[in-house]
Amino acid sequence: MAYSEKVKDHYTNPRNVGVIENASGVGTVGNAKCGDIMRMYLDIDDTTGIIKDCKFKTFGCGAAVATSSMATELVKGKTIKEALQVTNKAVMEALDGLPPIKVHCSLLAEQAIHAALWDYAEKHNIKIEGLEKPVNDIEELEDEEI
Ligand code: FES
Repeated sequence: MAYSEKVKDHYTNPRNVGVIENASGVGTVGNAKCGDIMRMYLDIDDTTGIIKDCKFKTFGCGAAVATSSMATELVKGKTIKEALQVTNKAVMEALDGLPPIKVHCSLLAEQAIHAALWDYAEKHNIKIEGLEKPVNDIEELEDEEI
């Protein structure tokens, strides 16, 4: 299966690449198998719980870049609760699919968002309903979640 036009677009022209200084939450996850790493930064409005900005850095494959780019677009402007709905499946759908061998790359994006939200919750001493403690290495999730 070839890559969709959307995947190619987000890979060649990734949105929201960079760092947010003093971010509300930062999450980093990796995949030991391929060695790819993704870091997600969230800027969250403490009063409304809305994600005002989201940036990422990915040291990884093309699909990891494209999925993190799309994931940042999907969580921007959303509430924390809505951001939890941005699963790897939702990211893949928004990208018109990924080749099966690249599905695990989208998990990196999902888990990086979760890790950043977890960091936010810890900093604010709150509990985000429905958010599980993220793993550092998504290889642990691959068998169960795809
Ligand atoms: Fe590692 Fe894609 S091959 S995230």
